[in-house]
Amino acid sequence: MIIGFIGFGKVSKNLLNLIKSDDITFITSAEGRSSKTIENIERADIEVLDTFKEVSIKSDILISANSPKNALEIAKRYGKFAKGIYLDLNNISPDTTLEINKHVENLVDGAIIGKIDSDNPILYLSGLKSDELLFLNEFIETIKISDNVGDVAILKLLRSTYTKSLSALLIESADLAKSYGLEDEFFDILSLTEGDDFKEKSLSRINNTLNSSKRKSEELEEIIDYFDNQELIMVKAALKKLNQ
Ligand SMILES: NC(=O)c1ccc[n+]([C@@H]2O[C@H](COP(=O)([O-])OP(=O)(O)OC[C@H]3O[C@@H](n4cnc5c(N)ncnc54)[C@H](OP(=O)(O)O)[C@@H]3O)[C@@H](O)[C@H]2O)c1
Repeated sequence: MIIGFIGFGKVSKNLLNLIKSDDITFITSAEGRSSKTIENIERADIEVLDTFKEVSIKSDILISANSPKNALEIAKRYGKFAKGIYLDLNNISPDTTLEINKHVENLVDGAIIGKIDSDNPILYLSGLKSDELLFLNEFIETIKISDNVGDVAILKLLRSTYTKSLSALLIESADLAKSYGLEDEFFDILSLTEGDDFKEKSLSRINNTLNSSKRKSEELEEIIDYFDNQELIMVKAALKKLNQ
């Protein structure tokens, strides 16, 4: 079996490391890629073809893991050559996923949940052809949600609805605690009910949010946009907080 990658960054590199089988050959291309990506490719055990068109034609499973901005354009350009399964792992909205579905024959909507460079990320799938990817469970925990392309994309948005709103609330609560000189005690008493690693996880969540607040705000705007027939009081408050 041949698995091809369009995009060879963190996601593809780690997938290749996780999927270890003598029956699988990995292919990609360096066509038009940056020196960082070329370096990633050179370090990996992967065959390099001249063009992404060739990669698309030859792959039994073509994995698109490049960027939310380029995912649709890539599907339009290469989807028609992919006769096997086209697995899209980009963080894209459900609308973009459905648009991609118009250009790709056998689309599987996918998401990696959990840190991609950890030992145990989970691969979520939806779409009729997902069943054919369940063998990946041997290498990475793989869960099929449904036959509907777009369900995984919605699930990702629902996850962000919770995690990003929670981050905004954490920032506010921790700031408040700090203003009373009780930050450590605040985390200590929450750890009693939320678990021992609550402080560590919260601080990482807060830093992460503050370091990329522009992107997080954009993601919250996307959520508000997509669920525009819902009230979403908390998400809108979180957006206001992050914009401050
Ligand atoms: N990192 C995560 O934990 C994670 C988890 C779930 C989902 N995702 C999603 O998965 C996708 C990839 O994430 P990543 O972390 O692997 O990103 P990354 O490390 O930035 O790598 C992106 C790769 O895609 C390539 N690329 C960009 N535009 C391309 C194009 N038009 N044609 C071919 N290759 C192209 C880049 O090449 P150049 O270097 O040449 O630009 C690079 O090799 C993103 O959509 C992201 O939202 C990421």
